[in-house]
Amino acid sequence: MPMTDFDTIRPVLWQHDQVALLDQRRLPGEVSWMHCDSSEAVAEAIRAMVVRGAPAIGIAAAYGAVLAAREAQAGAPEAWRRSLDAALERLEAARPTAVNLHWAVQRQRRCLDGAPADPPAALLAEAHAIAAEDLAANRRMGELGATLITEPGGVLTHCNTGSLATAGYGTALGVIRSAWSAGRVTAVYADETRPWLQGARLTAWELQQDGIPVTLLADAAAPALMRSGAVRWVVVGADRVTANGDVANKIGTYALAVAARHHGVGFMVVAPRSTVDMALPHGDAITIETRAADELLAVHGHPVAAPGASAWNPVFDITPAQLVDALVTEAGVIHNPDAERMQALFGGA
Ligand code: MRU
Repeated sequence: MPMTDFDTIRPVLWQHDQVALLDQRRLPGEVSWMHCDSSEAVAEAIRAMVVRGAPAIGIAAAYGAVLAAREAQAGAPEAWRRSLDAALERLEAARPTAVNLHWAVQRQRRCLDGAPADPPAALLAEAHAIAAEDLAANRRMGELGATLITEPGGVLTHCNTGSLATAGYGTALGVIRSAWSAGRVTAVYADETRPWLQGARLTAWELQQDGIPVTLLADAAAPALMRSGAVRWVVVGADRVTANGDVANKIGTYALAVAARHHGVGFMVVAPRSTVDMALPHGDAITIETRAADELLAVHGHPVAAPGASAWNPVFDITPAQLVDALVTEAGVIHNPDAERMQALFGGA
């Protein structure tokens, strides 16, 4: 895959018949790779956030399906499809909110339904295609989204939506990359993104690798930054967009959308077609992943909360479509998304 300016990182590779994952838990202190040689190892890596970001976990699962097919072939011939289906279900269930995981595994199931002569080879070709299509979609969304940023100004982003979260280039961060190279972004602000610190650890690292300066802020500082006039657009990704245009994304996104509307700041969601779930009518139908309380009560294993406190740790929230000014996909831009406009661009389930 060609690397262009401001885009040098690839988080998921197929290497030596294994799935190689840039270990995102260890960034930015350590750049190390985990090599998964079984489909279960890939599912566990997705659960444990070695690889994260909606499109990236879909791509990892697509490569995991290749390992699953090899494992099934090594077992009893009459049971191969049953054991392969069980492994695909484990990959699909690794995290619940990002629809890309389901989408990628479904695509691999459809590939198998075509009864290929060499299932692992066919699944590998399909996984490469999924990754290549994601990269192409990101570049297209980058171009489309950047055209909405018409005047130079600051942008604020949340979580990590960049090369690390995708096949490369990124969704929201792809738009920021494109607008930056067009000279229309004067400052990139990134929320630190509690509690996993995807903004502080990953977005800041990724932008530094690619020579784009970044200013971090605590999530709670975002409304004050908007009030100061430093930000023209909030640009975020998505883990699932439903048929009415509601958006599931990293916890804190909803608060950004409310604050953006209050301050007259644009709110842009950038997501490929693989993140759109026309089968769900609205955001309340999305399963929101809740992770362990320890992720809030401790930092790097060191307790920070008063002993005995409990914690509520939903890791995504729903932003109602009414708060979204623009939904950017590779198929086009929807301004003020609603059920009718979503249907016009994406059709039915
Ligand atoms: O829990 P994570 O780190 O997987 O969450 C990632 C996000 O919420 C991103 O904003 C989302 O996947 C869209 S980015 C391509």
